[in-house]
Amino acid sequence: MSGPADLPTDDPALDPGVLLPGPLVEFQGWTAVARHGGLAVLPWRPQARQADIAGLATSPRVPATTFPQALVRLTKGRVAVEADLAEAWGALTPGGRLVLTGPKELGITSAVKRLEALLGPGEVVAQRAHQKVVAWVRTSTALPRPTTPRVALGDGSDLTLGTAPGVFSHDALDEGTATLLAVLHDLPAPRALADLGCGAGHLGLAALRRWPAATAWLGDADHRAVTVATDNARDLGLAPRATVAWWDAHEPLPITGLDLVLTNPPAHAGAATSTDAALAMFRAAHAALAPGGRLVVVANRQLPYERPLAQLGRVTTMPSGSRFKVCVCHG
Ligand SMILES: C[S@@+](CC[C@H](N)C(=O)[O-])C[C@H]1O[C@@H](n2cnc3c(N)ncnc32)[C@H](O)[C@@H]1O
Repeated sequence: MSGPADLPTDDPALDPGVLLPGPLVEFQGWTAVARHGGLAVLPWRPQARQADIAGLATSPRVPATTFPQALVRLTKGRVAVEADLAEAWGALTPGGRLVLTGPKELGITSAVKRLEALLGPGEVVAQRAHQKVVAWVRTSTALPRPTTPRVALGDGSDLTLGTAPGVFSHDALDEGTATLLAVLHDLPAPRALADLGCGAGHLGLAALRRWPAATAWLGDADHRAVTVATDNARDLGLAPRATVAWWDAHEPLPITGLDLVLTNPPAHAGAATSTDAALAMFRAAHAALAPGGRLVVVANRQLPYERPLAQLGRVTTMPSGSRFKVCVCHG
């Protein structure tokens, strides 16, 4: 475990006396586990890799074991937070303690209000100008896991894909995704393709349905997406031709010789706009393309992708709507 000197000093959850001594389960973070021991539940691969390097016990999904204390760190997305809270509640021993922490800009005030409506008043155990830590004792009250709807696959069929809390576009087909799906028929049939940042699997799975001789590698840094895309591939009968992997864009792809890489890349890191993961995806894709292969990127028109793509290969565009563009980088 890391020593206290390695841990952030501005985290009120780590203030003395805020957490009970002894191991806990921590959702969406690992610094409390570094101090107290226990298990960090980290669906985000970059975070999980950091915690692994620090020698901590991690899992991408909720454990079957129970703990006397669970700490949930607020993330972006109300449904995802509600899912974490329900899983943390379920991972507590009777009488155990649920602790929620997060900054105002991520909505700690409203998250606490919603939880208080279900569980009764919580105890504010630490506070800063912009952060709060609130605790509840586990009772027999149920905290149900939120459900998410199925979403149209978007390939012109009436098929739908399963989604899950926290997974990109869990309530409707994204406009960027739909824009790229609409131009698939203008691309030559690939033998081997990849879908980078696959989410529920729309691009890769629609491509496999379109090209019955193709195989696809789908990767995403969010383990919740990997689980959902794996289930969707199985449900559509595409599992024999699909490999779904937990993968961070800063890692090389484990495959080469790709004729086609499809991506609707992330434009955010947490709450902030960032092109870092998208640019890493472009580099990883380019390194895995066969000669003559294509990297096809859909993005909001304002995003500055043309120049970095032009550093990798010749760039052309495909017809698209007014809000999104489809760029093709030729390998
Ligand atoms: C804009 S969404 C697109 C999802 C899906 N392809 C679609 O069109 O519905 C971008 C995806 O990239 C994933 N992602 C974000 N950062 C990543 C990273 N560093 N490495 C790999 N995937 C990442 C997100 O989890 C998300 O599923």
